[in-house]
Order: sequence, then C-alpha cells, then structure tokens
Amino acid sequence: MAKEGGAGGGVREVVLWREEARRFETPDGEAYLQYRLLAQPRSSSSDDGGATAAAVMDMVHTYVPGSKRGRGLAARLCDAAFAHARRHGMRVLPTCSYISETYLPRNPEWNELVLTEKEPKPSSM
Ligand code: COA
Repeated sequence: MAKEGGAGGGVREVVLWREEARRFETPDGEAYLQYRLLAQPRSSSSDDGGATAAAVMDMVHTYVPGSKRGRGLAARLCDAAFAHARRHGMRVLPTCSYISETYLPRNPEWNELVLTEKEPKPSSM
C-alpha cells in the first residue's frame, strides 16, 4: 500500500493506493475510487504500426459514505488518482459521472490526460 499525495485544498485526508485492489482509498477503506486498467492501441501511424498499447486508467466508480459527503473527499481521491496516472504516463477514461461531470470541469488541468472520442477505444488488458 502506498501513500498518494493530492494537489488541492478542502478536506485533508490521507489517500492510500491499494494496487492489488485497483483502488485509491481512505485508511478505513470506506471512501474509495475504483479503477481498472485497459490498453489503448497506438494509432496505426505510429512507428511500430500500432503493435504496442498504452495503459489507460478507467476510473469506474467513486464512493464516499453519506456522513462524509460534500467536503471535497471525492475530489481528494481523484487528485491522487490523476496524479498517479500522470506519473505513470497513463491516460484516463472518466467513466464515473462524478469525475466527468463535476471533478474534471473544476480541475481542467487534468484534461490533457483524458481520452477523447476521436482516439482508438481502449480494451481489456
Ligand atoms: N455525479 C456528478 N456530480 C456529483 C455526483 C454524481 N453522481 N454526486 C455528487 N456530485 C457533486 C455534488 O453535487 C457536489 O456538488 P457541489 O460542490 O456543487 O455541491 C459535489 O459533487 C461534491 O464534491 P465532493 O465533496 O468532492 O464529493 P463527495 O466527497 O461528496 O463525494 C460522491 C461525491 C459522488 C463520490 C458521493 O456523493 C457518492 O459516493 N455518491 C454515491 C455513489 C456515486 O453516485 N458515485 C458517482 C458515480 S460512479
């Protein structure tokens, strides 16, 4: 388990990366961001003719218990997950509606990591 720092303000919570569970979560495990890893074929114009694939973090679900909502905890989980994606050279598929509809519009600095409709669709690794 590794500690992952977040960038923004709001609630101060330690966020842990549980690689084996593919989650970023609070130490009690009650609040979490669940992701899965996908592979995105590189465009056929790339040097290797599309043979290799780039890793994509599909952020499928974010959950915060009712008693802790509205204090930016989900945003802290997302900060850690996006920082992790950037550090590891991964792209992001924002499947979770909280991420696509609320977090990303408020944190446009991460947009460069987000897969666009025009890019090849990622698939299971
Ligand atoms: N989609 C988009 N935005 C949402 C949302 C959803 N499903 N649920 C809440 N939000 C918005 C709220 O309206 C709020 O907006 P406001 O700041 O203008 O009031 C904002 O998210 C709160 O942000 P933050 O404090 O960072 O989030 P949180 O810690 O309260 O947690 C959820 C947000 C979505 C993780 C939490 O409400 C939850 O666990 N909901 C049940 C599971 C769920 O619906 N997950 C999202 C789909 S995968």
